[in-house]
Amino acid sequence: MGSPTITEGIHSDNYRFLQEYVYSQAGIVLEHDKHYLFESRLAPIVRQLGLGSINDLCALLQATRGVEVGRQVAEAMTTNETYFFRDPSHYDAIRGVLLPRLREERRDTKKLWLWSAAASTGQEAYSLAMLLLENGFGDWNIQILGTDFSSQVLERARSGKYHQIEVNRGLPATLLVKHFRRSGVEWQLSEVVRRMVRFETIDLRKSMRPLGPFDLVFCRNVMIYFDAETKKNILNEIHGTLFRGGWLLLGGAESALGVDEKFERQTVGNAIVYVAR
Ligand SMILES: C[S@@+](CC[C@H](N)C(=O)[O-])C[C@H]1O[C@@H](n2cnc3c(N)ncnc32)[C@H](O)[C@@H]1O
Repeated sequence: MGSPTITEGIHSDNYRFLQEYVYSQAGIVLEHDKHYLFESRLAPIVRQLGLGSINDLCALLQATRGVEVGRQVAEAMTTNETYFFRDPSHYDAIRGVLLPRLREERRDTKKLWLWSAAASTGQEAYSLAMLLLENGFGDWNIQILGTDFSSQVLERARSGKYHQIEVNRGLPATLLVKHFRRSGVEWQLSEVVRRMVRFETIDLRKSMRPLGPFDLVFCRNVMIYFDAETKKNILNEIHGTLFRGGWLLLGGAESALGVDEKFERQTVGNAIVYVAR
């Protein structure tokens, strides 16, 4: 290969190949300065496959178009940072405004459908489940769907097992005591909470309309990785999964700009919520 190398040995043509590959597989845009990210995330795969470098990994991907390895590479490039009750103002808004309204509107069916899109290791979906239990919805028919592109993180989510450091982040001690029990060095979430949530591998770029209709969709801290067009398509799809008046909650650095005709932006306490028109 004649092309010059850029930092830490990734050839510049392979860097471009990886950028395009991850974009085509997951929609994730990785700029020109993410060498360290490719290096640190792909090194374990290189080692596991007994290869010498990321350039070898690129050659393998180009030669075989190996579905399994390709999937591993795309999943490795996702960022899965999450924690319990992340952005508490969202949970305050749900507790204070959405739940009282739904309790009234759905008193006959006692049924709620909620979706944690980009659920990662499950803390968001389980936070919702605990919030509902704490607010007297224990005898309701609650279905919470947690979805993510990465099947690896969903495997962890399904297990409902968390390390000490994870339960230390955002989870009130009262809820830890109530809903978890120690299991070796980890904490195991109770069956009651786990049964309220179902996890499924779903790429947000695919059509999502068959999933709904939901009362609430969390799609937080994932849009930041997409380009404007992908983002707009996803917001349109999410709109199609929501009941009229249903809520969409986005991450702090995200907005539903560009689809104003579909969502009304409202401020509830310290939270911004997008209400489906
Ligand atoms: C930073 S985490 C956000 C987790 C959680 N929503 C939160 O705010 O705490 C972003 C998640 O989006 C997922 N993701 C990335 N691209 C995706 C795609 N195309 N479809 C579905 N999920 C995707 C990643 O796998 C990752 O778990």
